[in-house]
Amino acid sequence: MNAITLPSSRAYNIVDHTYDVVVVGAGGSGLRATFGMGAAGLKTACITKVFPTRSHTVAAQGGVAASLGNMNQDEWRWHMYDTVKGSDWLGDQDAIEYMCREAVPAVHELEHFGVPFSRTEEGKIYQRPFGGHMTQYGDGAPAMRACAAADRTGHAILHTLYQQSLKHDAEFFIEYFALDLIMDQEGVCRGVMAWNLEDGTIHRFRAQMVVLATGGYGRTFLSCTSAHTCTGDGNGMVLRAGLPCQDMEFVQFHPTGIFPAGCLITEGARGEGGYLTNSEGERFMERYAPSAKDLASRDVVSRSMTVEINEGRGCGPNKDHIMLHLEHLGADLLHERLPGISETSKVFAGVDVTKDPIPVLPTVHYNMGGVPTNVHTEVLRPTADNQDAIVPGLMAIGEGACVSVHGANRLGCNSLLDIVVFGRAAANRTAELIRPGTGQPSLPPKAGEATMDRFDRARHAKGGTKVAELRLDMQRTMQAHAAVFRNSKTLERGVTEMQRVWRGLDDMSVSDHSLVWNSDLMEALELQNLMGNAMTAMVGAEARKESRGAHAHDDFPDRDDRNWMKHTLAWCGDDGAVKLDYRDVKMRTLTNEVSVFPPKKRVY
Ligand code: FUM
Repeated sequence: MNAITLPSSRAYNIVDHTYDVVVVGAGGSGLRATFGMGAAGLKTACITKVFPTRSHTVAAQGGVAASLGNMNQDEWRWHMYDTVKGSDWLGDQDAIEYMCREAVPAVHELEHFGVPFSRTEEGKIYQRPFGGHMTQYGDGAPAMRACAAADRTGHAILHTLYQQSLKHDAEFFIEYFALDLIMDQEGVCRGVMAWNLEDGTIHRFRAQMVVLATGGYGRTFLSCTSAHTCTGDGNGMVLRAGLPCQDMEFVQFHPTGIFPAGCLITEGARGEGGYLTNSEGERFMERYAPSAKDLASRDVVSRSMTVEINEGRGCGPNKDHIMLHLEHLGADLLHERLPGISETSKVFAGVDVTKDPIPVLPTVHYNMGGVPTNVHTEVLRPTADNQDAIVPGLMAIGEGACVSVHGANRLGCNSLLDIVVFGRAAANRTAELIRPGTGQPSLPPKAGEATMDRFDRARHAKGGTKVAELRLDMQRTMQAHAAVFRNSKTLERGVTEMQRVWRGLDDMSVSDHSLVWNSDLMEALELQNLMGNAMTAMVGAEARKESRGAHAHDDFPDRDDRNWMKHTLAWCGDDGAVKLDYRDVKMRTLTNEVSVFPPKKRVY
């Protein structure tokens, strides 16, 4: 066994492994990549900090988008148009074309893998309407495009993908917390360091390819639908490796988090006919989105709800929430199509949805930003002369990646789609790029030493502030200064406040010094990851002087394509200093079977 001895003279024994591929994360994208790589004969390891079926994909409710046309006429070009429009023209059109075309075979593949989709009378996959999904390039009726397994679609997909993974020879390292990428002097990714939470051992994985499938950073905010595990770990690792994250300022608020708990009430509830009212009982969405109404895209609905509350038409004694009505849908439909949220409403709001409306409030739900990649999921390190330069040996997929198919605002059901399409793309690309069992160069000298030094310093941190206090401070800062509506004053203040919170890391205290099931230390390391995410999001938001998708800036209420139709790139130093740069949005398609959709005003 090898050991790393630190300047502190403490030493850590290291367990070394060699694989063709190491996938970090076992949500939908990680599992789809893992078993695809296993099936291609690659020796594949999947490292995950939670048991695979506890990954956050399990919480996805309403459906996976695909233009199957089972319930009304549909086609992938309409889906592509809706996604480009939903992204507020920040999405890369080549990647969006790829995702929307691949949606149909990807969902059929899921069906054949065994996903228990709900069914129509004829036995076809059941599809429901979802926000922002329309027919006829936005001019027709709402599209029935969300392929649903009741309101537990993520649960059904995640379990099926895990079962498929077990069929292949992938090896799982469960409850291992990935610490850092191992980069060599040429900037090639050679592997990853990880800590086995169960027995405290430290592992160094060498691989021809590392695939980050680590999910979003919802937990940078106080109120979110994301699991406590959504701490942007892959983004944190990428930033520490000196690579940029992209479009981090674009944070999606889901219109219907239960008030005040924040748990998700699926948009599928409005897809099935639910609607929102203010304190006057008015269906106010008719004023904001006369055509799509309650099924306008999420950023539009969240902003409309916030305006209603800000103008004094919120519900309840404090006029601080909105009501979602499902009671008119009837008990049979609610039982068949929305059993999960019926139960959640009872537990978290004490509401019987067959009788009463649910109190709801926009809640952080999704991160459009993440690790920049090309359509093959290869991670980018844009330079002055090559915006598409790749980082050899590194891929990113799922919510932690920014392909970018969601641009400034993701459409509902395009997330489950993204994870299966790009999980599969990663497997296909890896199978093209690497040969099973190819000999790998030795790791760079001192591989993992800086990581273990950081780990050890966190483990023995003796400051005066508990990890939970510091995390709360960060979450309150993000919630207050990077909310649904932003303005120059709150954002400038947000940057200063985040810098203050960052300095608090020097005063962090970790009281448990053990290595086995040390949740205090794990939360400290997660907090370091969260901080990089939060800081790049806040600084990127402050710099963007326009309104686009989820970034609604009161002082710059219009979209400014001339100056701002570009992706933000953000690097974050060890001291929290953020450097920004920008790269072009891809206004090109992959094939000549569709044309680029030029920017236009976005109305629903
Ligand atoms: O509302 C929902 O069911 C969420 C779906 C999504 O975020 O894609």
